[in-house]
Amino acid sequence: MRNGLHLTFLCLSLFAGRMCSQGNQFNVEVGRSDKLSLPGFENLTVGYNKFLRPNFGGEPVQIALTLDIASISSISESNMDYTATIYLRQRWTDPRLVFEGNKSVTLDARLVEFLWVPDTYIVESKKSFLHEVTVGNRLIRLFSNGTVLYALRITTTVACNMDLSKYPMDTQTCQLQLESWGYDGNDVEFSWLRGNDSVRGLENLRLAQYTIEQYFTLVTRSQQETGNYTRLVLQFELRRNVLYFILETYVPSTFLVVLSWVSFWISLDSVPARTCIGDAKGSGRSQYY
Ligand SMILES: *[C@@H]1O[C@H](CO)[C@@H](O)[C@H](O)[C@H]1NC(C)=O
Ligand SMILES: *[C@@H]1O[C@H](CO)[C@@H](O)[C@H](O)[C@H]1NC(C)=O
Ligand SMILES: *[C@@H]1O[C@H](CO)[C@@H](O)[C@H](O)[C@H]1NC(C)=O
Ligand SMILES: *[C@@H]1O[C@H](CO)[C@@H](O)[C@H](O)[C@H]1NC(C)=O
Ligand SMILES: *[C@@H]1O[C@H](CO)[C@@H](O)[C@H](O)[C@H]1NC(C)=O
Repeated sequence: MRNGLHLTFLCLSLFAGRMCSQGNQFNVEVGRSDKLSLPGFENLTVGYNKFLRPNFGGEPVQIALTLDIASISSISESNMDYTATIYLRQRWTDPRLVFEGNKSVTLDARLVEFLWVPDTYIVESKKSFLHEVTVGNRLIRLFSNGTVLYALRITTTVACNMDLSKYPMDTQTCQLQLESWGYDGNDVEFSWLRGNDSVRGLENLRLAQYTIEQYFTLVTRSQQETGNYTRLVLQFELRRNVLYFILETYVPSTFLVVLSWVSFWISLDSVPARTCIGDAKGSGRSQYY
């Protein structure tokens, strides 16, 4: 057992050695051009290996999330899903990125390629994309104590099982779940940064057919064959606006039915009126034919 572990570490360190040389290469490539403009940055990347998580082989990385819901654009009963645009912000501390001073630096989003970032994914999403206009909509900010803030703007379509038995007076519960794709609970721990207050923007949403009743955040664990993962859940309840239905469906159909009775209310003698409505011939009540 012990020997096995030892071997694994030897392998890893050999492997890491090769990758470290890549890391140094990056340091030369990026460092040379940025040294002048960003004092203190040159030491950040020495020996940095983006393929290894912070505290590699030790304590799990604590990743704190906050979410802003910018919009929920469509809630579809036929596909049983909803589409939302979210700002996803993740914070973690990488001791390798500590630098001197008492300030923070915002890096060009393209430098994300050179840093370790969590492999967060949206469980049950059917399709998602990162906005790319005019550049990839992401942000990296480094604090001198090693805290990294990584923000993304994502549009995603997420499955939501709906119970339509009480339609149209129904209330649906939908979820947005976030989890690490590869790192299990021994490597990465997710948490909401401010509990229920980590999610913003849901109060201000205006949806045509629904009102958001309430929402709250949860931290659960998901057991899978590959390990136990922490999963962050945002759960919200959507109540259908019955008024919308009355105006859109019931009122127009009622009017149609009432209109179809009009010809019966017109006096038998006023032929021109009944001709207009098309009843003169149809009902066979006309005396003039
Ligand atoms: C970079 O590291 C070297 C060696 O540890 C140190 O002398 C130097 O002060 C560091 N530079 C900055 C800006 O931290
Ligand atoms: C860093 O900034 C904070 C707030 O601006 C201040 O309270 C603290 O003393 C500063 N620390 C150092 C080491 O300058
Ligand atoms: C690092 O600094 C940021 C900004 O001042 C602060 O929000 C964060 O809590 C600090 N992280 C740690 C681990 O002290
Ligand atoms: C979040 O809100 C839910 C429902 O209102 C409540 O049950 C839960 O205790 C709250 N959680 C926190 C951390 O406040
Ligand atoms: C996951 O958790 C369950 C229950 O706590 C435990 O039985 C199982 O061994 C864990 N799996 C892994 C891979 O750690």
